[in-house]
Amino acid sequence: MNAALKTTSGSEKRILEFDLSAELHHGVVVSNLAYAVAEELGLPHDQCYQLAIAGMLHDIGKLKLTGYINGQERDPLVIEELKYVRMHSTLGYEELKGQGYSDFVLQSILYHHENYDGSGYPSNKAGKEIPIGARILRVCDVYAALTSDRPYRKGFDMGTVMELMIDEVKNFDMQVFLAFQRVVHKEKA
Ligand SMILES: [Fe+2]
Repeated sequence: MNAALKTTSGSEKRILEFDLSAELHHGVVVSNLAYAVAEELGLPHDQCYQLAIAGMLHDIGKLKLTGYINGQERDPLVIEELKYVRMHSTLGYEELKGQGYSDFVLQSILYHHENYDGSGYPSNKAGKEIPIGARILRVCDVYAALTSDRPYRKGFDMGTVMELMIDEVKNFDMQVFLAFQRVVHKEKA
């Protein structure tokens, strides 16, 4: 483990460590779900497909982030770790820009942590100001994170996940959230 990481507290370590296999798995889950939700919402086929790509790549900025943390940045510990984590959507966007991805993919990635009530990052966009692709990724991302096992906890069961998401429903586009619920219930049936 990197020396800088050893000096961080336990809770920070959990956020800063990058498990490639878990991240890839998360990307696949978000990708499949985002495709299904986009289809359920009646988005054009091409956008559904584009969103599947965005789902796979949405957290790619975290790779850059580990670069910063592992020494590109002179003194990482003087800067709040949360600030780093919040850079990942912009870093991902910057990384992929100019590599031939559509604007739909890029905007979905850049804004995938914006909340519907305007409390998200990086731009505090609210409501329909947030691109539809990003609004879909937001819901799918939270679901995938809560249902999967983490080193420090087991994944939550479906009932608990839905309760937790309803508690945070202010973060989501209600139309997207309802389409997401239909998809998940269909998959379960
Ligand atoms: Fe993310």
